[in-house]
Amino acid sequence: PVIHMITPTYSCWTQKADLTRLSQTLMHIKNLHWIVVEDSDNKTGLVARFLKKCNLKYTHLNVRTKKELQRNSKEPVWRKSRGVEQRNLGLNWLRRNHMTMPGKGKGDVVYFGDDDNTYDIELFDEIRATRKLSVWPVGICGGLRWEGPVCDDKGTVVDWHRSWAKLRPFPIDFAGFAIKLDVVLQFSTAEINPDSRIGWLESDFLSQMVQPSDAEGRASNCKKVLVWHTRTEKPKTKDEERLIAQGQPSDPLIET
Ligand code: UGA
Ligand code: MN
Repeated sequence: PVIHMITPTYSCWTQKADLTRLSQTLMHIKNLHWIVVEDSDNKTGLVARFLKKCNLKYTHLNVRTKKELQRNSKEPVWRKSRGVEQRNLGLNWLRRNHMTMPGKGKGDVVYFGDDDNTYDIELFDEIRATRKLSVWPVGICGGLRWEGPVCDDKGTVVDWHRSWAKLRPFPIDFAGFAIKLDVVLQFSTAEINPDSRIGWLESDFLSQMVQPSDAEGRASNCKKVLVWHTRTEKPKTKDEERLIAQGQPSDPLIET
């Protein structure tokens, strides 16, 4: 089966660094289709050129997050979710195009992989083994050292390790599950809701298609962390701003 990995991304100083790191992980993975969705009105040259030369099988899409859903820098980070419309576009692209794919996408798997997380290449074996819904723990997540499912020695999920929003039916990050494409096709209107309560994005989305009892625990019965919710630090820009004011910006012809 092919893994369709949906990655939202947006223009910022750290974008090319994040995409470089992620693409060089993905170079190790066979049968992977990378769906890169830019949060922008137009596809940028930077991402288009980057994808062209990175030797991965990819689809390049874009959709700008609607104004009312955009988060301004003064708002607290938990008020609005990022990457929502981009993930939905990726899902709908798969729904519209799976007939043109090898085997019509039958048996393929969908995974949401943000651009700044850290992925062990072993994770992709777990993703590929997905029958309906796979789940596994995510490192540095949910305010804990790790957050996610707790399994018995058959991979049956018996509990969830989480510290907040304990009523969530699927208390996991987007990086903590993979779902069969057939399920996404069957439930053709299931989508991520930008108005979901904070922390409930994943639960509200999955609940439209599956139940917690459908979840199979992977990664050594959920004893192994193979993905980390690392976050790229936002760089300070004030020195560059000073140079711009002096008419001496860093050479704009050098892409960073
Ligand atoms: C956490 C969760 O891991 C995400 O699944 C969730 O979408 C996000 O919070 C949220 O709801 O805000 P976090 O590390 O805080 O992730 O968020 P980012 O990594 O900054 O953004 C998630 C994805 O959306 C990234 O792939 C990022 O490139 C993209 N993004 C970010 C956009 O497409 N547009 C933006 O304006 C910002
Ligand atoms: Mn992130």
